[in-house]
Amino acid sequence: MSKKTRFQTRAIHAGNEPDKETGAVVAPIHLTSTYQQEGVGLNKGFDYSRGGNPTRQRLEENIAALEEGQFGIAFASGMAATTALFQTLNTGDHVIIGRNVYGGTYRMSVEVLSNHGFEFDFVDTRFLDQIEAAIKPSTKWVFVETPTNPLLELCDIQETAKLCKTHEISLAVDNTFMSPYGQTPLALGADIVMHSATKFIGGHSDLIAGALITNDASLAERLYFIQKSGGAIPSPFDCWILLRSTKTMGLRVQRQSDNAMELAQRLQSHPAVVSIIYPGLETHDQHDLALKQQLNPEGDPIFGCMISIRLSSIEKRDAFLSRIKLFTLAESLGGVESLVCIPYGMTHASVPTEMKKTMGLTEDLIRLSIGIEHIEDLYADISQALKD
Ligand SMILES: Cc1ncc(COP(=O)(O)O)c(C=O)c1O
Repeated sequence: MSKKTRFQTRAIHAGNEPDKETGAVVAPIHLTSTYQQEGVGLNKGFDYSRGGNPTRQRLEENIAALEEGQFGIAFASGMAATTALFQTLNTGDHVIIGRNVYGGTYRMSVEVLSNHGFEFDFVDTRFLDQIEAAIKPSTKWVFVETPTNPLLELCDIQETAKLCKTHEISLAVDNTFMSPYGQTPLALGADIVMHSATKFIGGHSDLIAGALITNDASLAERLYFIQKSGGAIPSPFDCWILLRSTKTMGLRVQRQSDNAMELAQRLQSHPAVVSIIYPGLETHDQHDLALKQQLNPEGDPIFGCMISIRLSSIEKRDAFLSRIKLFTLAESLGGVESLVCIPYGMTHASVPTEMKKTMGLTEDLIRLSIGIEHIEDLYADISQALKD
């Protein structure tokens, strides 16, 4: 599908052509592990579902179109996608990673892949000079998350991409927190985009999946090979659910971000809230960068659905958690329902205490993932939970 077609049209039509055989408007789910061959090695493009499946192929086309990329490679989870990307490395290769990336990315790098001879350094990717200082002759990738989880620190994708090009290094962006609707790293110069499709792409907290998207044909070929070889693939059913979910992603993400912006504005003057982090607020250190790179398909700034707040003590935090009703205490984010999480002991439990301390990830930090519920109900619920 032409990249000129607008986001919402691509979301509905890319990979969603009516079924050629029956005319079914909604793509069928190909629940099959294997495919009839007309002769030895003669098939219709599919031979075994680990290597390829028509429903997965449709999803990969759809997600690639939404990220303005040519190639989409779907995985069983976001972590499987990140791992596959790192599996393109050779022994001795070095990767620079944002210091407060998702805890699982840290765990996979340090506790698994380091044992295989890959080297990782964690830096504060808000600062270009810190990225540059970490570059070595063996550096192959810079891997960033923006905004980061849960401190919502930003990395300038365009400037980092320029730096990487100068040093002939590739740039990977974990775009999970913004979704393809709110930020398009490939258009800003990144070489690959990674998603935990579990979040906004799925959008309903009912599956685990991941994806990589790139315009680099040889990298894509290697990744399809790793996907087929390792087999960390999403099931046809999950691919179908994701194809259905991306049709409404724009509507969901816009509403979630609008709700989050409104709540952040109200909470910043709430007496019980000691501090609030949200890239849409002028008080956010990198608000200008958010205005520049977080744009919806209409070109309007969009700030995401994640808000982090601090109350005055752990006791207040626990009182808040015990009173809040519409926000479920759970890991994950980006779904239509609002969630609350304490990253220190939940999503980031596997990050060493010292590292959490350095990055300012404290026990009192409360992370809110805002859903599509009515804004007044969300605000009323937070207000009653903040009361003494
Ligand atoms: C920013 C980010 N990247 C990657 C992941 C890993 O994705 P998954 O849980 O789908 O493996 C997560 C999960 O929370 C995440 O928040």
